[in-house]
Amino acid sequence: MNSNYPAKKTFTITTPLYYVNDLPHIGSAYTTIAADVLARYWRLRGEEVLMITGTDEHGLKIQRTAQERGKDPQTHCDEIVEGFQTLWHKLNIQYDRFSRTTAAKHHQIVQEFFTRVWENGDIYQGVQKGWYCVSCEEFKEERDLLEDRRCPIHPNKSTEWRDENNYFFRLSKYQDSLETFYSENPDFIQPESRRNEVLSFVARGLQDFSISRVNLDWGFPVPTDPEHTLYVWFDALLGYITALLDPEDSPTLENALAKWWPIQTHLIGKDILRFHTVYWPAMLMSAGLPLPGRVFGHGFLTKDGMKMGKSLGNTLNPYELVDRYGADAVRYYFLKEIEFGKDGDFNETRFINVLNADLANDLGNLLNRTLGMVRKYGQGQVPAIAPNDIPDDNPLKTLGSSLKSKVDRHYNDLAYSQACEAILDLVQSSNKYIDEQAPWTLYKQGKQEALAEVLYSVLESVRLAAYLLSPIIPDISTAIYSQLGFSIDFNQVRDLQNPISFERHAQWGILPGQQTLGTPKPVFQRLELIEA
Ligand code: MSP
Repeated sequence: MNSNYPAKKTFTITTPLYYVNDLPHIGSAYTTIAADVLARYWRLRGEEVLMITGTDEHGLKIQRTAQERGKDPQTHCDEIVEGFQTLWHKLNIQYDRFSRTTAAKHHQIVQEFFTRVWENGDIYQGVQKGWYCVSCEEFKEERDLLEDRRCPIHPNKSTEWRDENNYFFRLSKYQDSLETFYSENPDFIQPESRRNEVLSFVARGLQDFSISRVNLDWGFPVPTDPEHTLYVWFDALLGYITALLDPEDSPTLENALAKWWPIQTHLIGKDILRFHTVYWPAMLMSAGLPLPGRVFGHGFLTKDGMKMGKSLGNTLNPYELVDRYGADAVRYYFLKEIEFGKDGDFNETRFINVLNADLANDLGNLLNRTLGMVRKYGQGQVPAIAPNDIPDDNPLKTLGSSLKSKVDRHYNDLAYSQACEAILDLVQSSNKYIDEQAPWTLYKQGKQEALAEVLYSVLESVRLAAYLLSPIIPDISTAIYSQLGFSIDFNQVRDLQNPISFERHAQWGILPGQQTLGTPKPVFQRLELIEA
């Protein structure tokens, strides 16, 4: 199998395949934004990128939700899927694949994969007894349950007792191989705190888990025994593989794995860590496949300091948020304000303050006032100066020249808020530099060269900031580039034959002297708090 893998490194990133028990909430939007930003960043670097998102549509939870809505399950799923796609478009998510677990081609991939694992002797029949949380679609250890055997993640829901014949996957067989894999690949589980959590879970000893259900219609039948339905998680994880098929490919594992496997990054929330870092690699080992590059488990969003949840009635409607404030604002806030990996809070006043401070004031005003000065003191062109003539101790040149490698590292580490901070540092330093250099005085004193150096350095720093922020705020970056005289749309990078060269544009000092500038126009309107 290995010989079939491509020589060229490809970059595949996934979001979880979201349950369609309801429309997406802000938690799903959060992961999807983060995945889109990394995908855009890689595309900017000129890599071959595939971004996968999609929906997880089988299982008891979905079957019951459809019943409650008086719909047949497939109609229910189709309706909710549309709601997901609408939100992703509003948020300017450029996914390449939308994987649905009810797709016919997925059924074929699941059958083929199951057969491999079966033939490897890793599936057997046994009795499953235990407390089942339908909302998690997971058996729970009795010691982890709350009072009245309620689930700690869904405290308003009771778990249900099960005592039934199921098929089991021989997870315990992979204990040693998994432990060896974790120690040889210390970056597989990120961040560090999640890695430790998984390592100690595995060290307690792995138990086989059941991969089929009885008395459940909504799912794929177990290929070797159609009386049983496949457990939703076994089917769902394989949705990542189905997503790799090109639309015209016939649905075989060989085709699916030919170009984009192994997946480079799985982004998930911390509640589904075990499935992705223990069950999934073991299933892949059993099927004889190489393992993904890394699994990053991010934190949970809270609102005004309290866990967001339907039971508390404090969920944040992502559709309303983006309608009110725009996609770039929402994308920026969550990635800048919350350290990726940690839990983070949404508070509307804070949201407005951060956006006004960073995007309207620091970045937007900087561009606006500088373009205004260039028009007033020159001919509306980038000052005619060769970047090499700017002394190396120019503070913006110094800072700008070291930014590329810093920001590259932060994006690749998914350290989005650090990437934003590093870029904003250049923007804030530019504002400070203007105030200190007082170009209005240099103009009055007739110091043309010094004036050109100041204005060039600031314009170039705004350009670089816009370029490096473009995966997060593509519309604003496009507007900034246009005012600087480029006709480049950062939403088109995916479709361009020659991406805007990262090697060139991520450097400080490439803005062409005498380039004609566009008309200054605020790139981000100050936000006002609108009461719902
Ligand atoms: N269907 C499974 C995933 C299967 S992947 C093969 C699933 N779906 S989910 O819709 O319930 O959750 C999707 C993601 O949303 C999870 O990563 C979960 O962590 C995340 N979030 C759910 N609530 C959240 C917050 N309040 N904050 C941040 N993320 C949250 O699990």
